[in-house]
Amino acid sequence: MKVEDVKVVGVLGAGTMGAGIAQVCAMAGFEVVLRDIEDRFLERGLNNIRKSLEKFAAKGKLSEDVETIMGRIKPTTKLEDLADVDLVIEAIIENMEVKKETFRQLNEIVKREDAIFASNTSTLSITEMAAVTRKPENFVGIHFMNPVPVMKGVEIVRGLLTSDETLEFAVEFTKKLGKEPVVCRDSPGFISNRILMPWINEGIWVLYEGVATKEEIDRGMRLFTNVPMGPLELADLIGLDICLAAIETLHRELGDKYRPCPLLKQMVQAGLLGRKTGRGFYDYT
Ligand code: CAA
Repeated sequence: MKVEDVKVVGVLGAGTMGAGIAQVCAMAGFEVVLRDIEDRFLERGLNNIRKSLEKFAAKGKLSEDVETIMGRIKPTTKLEDLADVDLVIEAIIENMEVKKETFRQLNEIVKREDAIFASNTSTLSITEMAAVTRKPENFVGIHFMNPVPVMKGVEIVRGLLTSDETLEFAVEFTKKLGKEPVVCRDSPGFISNRILMPWINEGIWVLYEGVATKEEIDRGMRLFTNVPMGPLELADLIGLDICLAAIETLHRELGDKYRPCPLLKQMVQAGLLGRKTGRGFYDYT
């Protein structure tokens, strides 16, 4: 499959990442079928897309009007509505079994034989997901960064059986979205989260051990390393549940140095997931 052959992109999940992915695909001129399991998740996702597009429009950064771009996104709760897509990008819950079950169903639904299946997983195995699909060589990781509409970098992950053509497709497709693809092979956390999640987790340990206040940890790391956000404010942006799932995968797959901080676990148990719930390390209400 060539990028020029792609007319319709299916995006699974209208959460922070799925909505962002649907937005950048629509901005690049693709038709998008955006699927989530409940209408309220779709409504929230579409609202976030609209807000983001309005931000771009206010700065004169859109070549089309907001409604034209919104008009390319068809929300649905039915997986069957992905029958005619050329490419699927999955951005649902970070749970291997749920992802595999979804891809098994897509095997039966997506009509196009050479359709590409992609996952936006942040740490799970691309090779394992590919194994349940009808063409593992057509499966690839396309891992966007949050906030998707703003961040340039996209990780392209080659599973054990991903073909050269599929890898090349993913590289060209993300360039078409205005992004800069970075290629790596399938390995827990790939490049980004293998390095980022221990950094965030360590920031939480530093807080947990009372070494410094949250404000000083974040301000310090911004000043010391010139990053735009310190580890705790970045965890709030990403979502503490996502961070915990990622560090748990790294811990399970790569060993003890990735042990999650107990404070991270407790905060997730308490429902303090960061910006998306209004409270994490900081209060956003
Ligand atoms: N849509 C449109 N525009 C947006 C936006 C959105 N969703 N979010 C931010 N912006 C725009 C702002 O309007 C602003 O534009 P101007 O410069 O033209 O005014 C610009 O982006 C910067 O935003 P802000 O001024 O609000 O704040 P900021 O300067 O602090 O930037 C940020 C915000 C871009 C998020 C920046 O803080 C940043 O880069 N943070 C680090 C993000 C990061 O590391 N992401 C990767 C996380 S890891 C990941 O995602 C992988 C994973 O698997 C977990």
